[in-house]
Amino acid sequence: MGSPAEEVEAIQRGEDLLRLGGVACVTVAGGQASRLGLDGPKGAFGVGPVSGATLFQILSEKILAAHRTYGAPLPWWIMTSEGNDAETRAFFAQHQHFGLDPGDVRFFAQRMIPAVDPHGKLLLASKSQLFRNPNGHGGVLSGLAETGALDEMARRRIEQVLTCQVDNALVDFVDPLFLGRHIALGAEASCKVVTKRDAGEKVGVIGLRGAKYGCIEYSDLPASLREARDGEGRLLFRAGNIAVHAFRRDFLERVGGGDLSLPYHRAKKKLTVIDEHGRAHEREGIKFETFVFDALPRAHRVLVQEVLREEEFAPVKNRDGEDSPASAREAILAQGRRWLECAGIAVPADAEVEISPLWASCAAEAASRVKRGFAAPAGRRWYLRA
Ligand code: UD1
Repeated sequence: MGSPAEEVEAIQRGEDLLRLGGVACVTVAGGQASRLGLDGPKGAFGVGPVSGATLFQILSEKILAAHRTYGAPLPWWIMTSEGNDAETRAFFAQHQHFGLDPGDVRFFAQRMIPAVDPHGKLLLASKSQLFRNPNGHGGVLSGLAETGALDEMARRRIEQVLTCQVDNALVDFVDPLFLGRHIALGAEASCKVVTKRDAGEKVGVIGLRGAKYGCIEYSDLPASLREARDGEGRLLFRAGNIAVHAFRRDFLERVGGGDLSLPYHRAKKKLTVIDEHGRAHEREGIKFETFVFDALPRAHRVLVQEVLREEEFAPVKNRDGEDSPASAREAILAQGRRWLECAGIAVPADAEVEISPLWASCAAEAASRVKRGFAAPAGRRWYLRA
């Protein structure tokens, strides 16, 4: 993107704000993990190929590492939903909040809204309850406003909010370069993208609609546009959304405060509901969801930062194949090996390397650790953690 000088200056800006304690983190973890077929919070799923670390542990360690590096706390809000709120809280308590100050890890459940049948009629989950589903991750915006999180951020003089989804095992959301560029541009909302793997990859694409940035969900992009190529044969719409954002706090106040409420998207799903005799059965229904990235067109300025897939995107969505626990584990191992090899370590071909964010959160940090002295662990399964 910019010159080396621009990059150094941006990192400096991002780091300065992190040192001042002017940054908060938010993770959306209210989804039902239905594609993965999990019963329970997705964040409690173990993806560490050597350590077995869960997604929540990996995210926690990224935040803890930043706290140690910059010497200021990064308060973290985790959005859950009715179905996994209690379990998520219990999971963090059981793991002593992975070393974070429990006072700086907050949870709030997103709102639930009713689903309908294809004729618009409400459905029942039990004799006395409507069938409801979480209101989509866009619910984070109203949730932060309604639970007082934005007020607390204002009291703590937090200026910028970094957000991510729970399911990306390589997520780099406390990234001073991205943060610094977002600040330097005076952006209200920013997002990271990777080049789409292929036309069929299930990621939204970031693009311009008129003069406004926005995200078009994969399910909404017609096949002709999904497949369209530019003069060099590359996908025309290839900026795949990895759902890592930086938001100015005052922008979230404007959006979450209600005057810029988000549109609802319809999703046809098979739902387990009860009939008039109280018997459970599966039927077609329509869920309504809001998406956080629908806030992008409402921002006065947006930064879109392209990043490397192999460094920052390994989502856990499906049981197997692409974007599965197995592909995420492979990506973690490839990154561990790459960082060590770049630092000059000869990693045996049959060794598996997993690096905890507490040991290094980027290749440069791994290189500086190696420079200070590196003794290869015994055996062939290396878990590097400080
Ligand atoms: C999502 C994005 C897609 C992006 C991709 C990157 C949507 C609609 N699409 O796709 O643009 O390219 O991730 O991985 O989000 N969640 C909630 N509450 C909800 C629903 C979801 O907190 O009501 C959370 C989930 O816990 C998860 C995240 O949002 O962390 C993504 O949800 P998911 O349904 O898996 O989105 P995708 O279809 O994979």
